[in-house]
Amino acid sequence: MSFVFRDFSAAESRLRADVLAGLAARPKRIPPKYFYDAAGCRLFESICAQPEYALCRTEQALMATHLPAIAAALGRVESIVEPGAGDCSKVRRLLDALRPTRLLLLDIAGAPLAAAAQAVARDYPAVAVSALAMDFLDGLEAAGAWLGAGPHLVYYPGSSIGNFPPAAATALLARFRRLAGAKGRLLIGFDLKKDPQRLHAAYNDAAGVTAAFNLNLLERINRELDADFDLARFRHYAFYHPAEGRVEMHLVSLAEQTVRVAGERFRFALGESVHTEHSCKYRRDEFATLAASAGWRLADDWEHDGFAVQLYT
Ligand code: AVJ
Repeated sequence: MSFVFRDFSAAESRLRADVLAGLAARPKRIPPKYFYDAAGCRLFESICAQPEYALCRTEQALMATHLPAIAAALGRVESIVEPGAGDCSKVRRLLDALRPTRLLLLDIAGAPLAAAAQAVARDYPAVAVSALAMDFLDGLEAAGAWLGAGPHLVYYPGSSIGNFPPAAATALLARFRRLAGAKGRLLIGFDLKKDPQRLHAAYNDAAGVTAAFNLNLLERINRELDADFDLARFRHYAFYHPAEGRVEMHLVSLAEQTVRVAGERFRFALGESVHTEHSCKYRRDEFATLAASAGWRLADDWEHDGFAVQLYT
């Protein structure tokens, strides 16, 4: 087996700078990538098991059903890169079907990535696996060097692209375009626009796991940035905004309060929110137009129960 793990995360300093800047901004915001500390990764996996949150299960069902067609459309694939690989469960299905020689896994959560990627390397001894703990928004171009010459298949499943508003999503897809190389491809999964009540329920599960996931961000900041957020005085608030085509998650202050973070003080008015996540939803044609503006041409398209996977060249 061939396995390399490198940690380029330098996470603390970025967390500190981003949180301080985000809390000083109006409206207040914290980037969603900071959800994923160890507890956040576990909570996300638990979200995926909630009856209201079908996104992960639906994508798995789609991939299971359409894998032969997807593999046929892809043909020979030498190398796969997956930004935001998480627990690496999704890429395994592709490895089974495509048998590439190289796999590059990137994730901001270093410890879970190292464990999951090593297990992949063990289970697929013919694949040279590299795992880099990094914020791929900073290091995508440098990461490409680990793959050698292209073309590469960029695999970006799970509707992670939904976290980026359309302009930022286009910019990211353009970076994927350069990373993939001239003959490179993109296989991307995203959540579709659907009944707003279904979308609302998915981010407001009855067991409160999504609320715990959202609030865990404050717990993480308390622990890692010596802050004193009182979790009982912030409320998880998530809703689908049809005109914007996205679910927004907020943490709303239930009182007028002052919070100390890394030696600085931040005032919250009663009802003031910290915006923590966008989860953009698309129609298939809408997403193809967005991807086209980043230089990708739609080659194939699969849909299952409100979720889409598209192949671009
Ligand atoms: C991992 C970004 C696809 O936006 O649905 C789940 C994260 N947030 N519940 C999503 C999430 C709240 C998820 N993504």
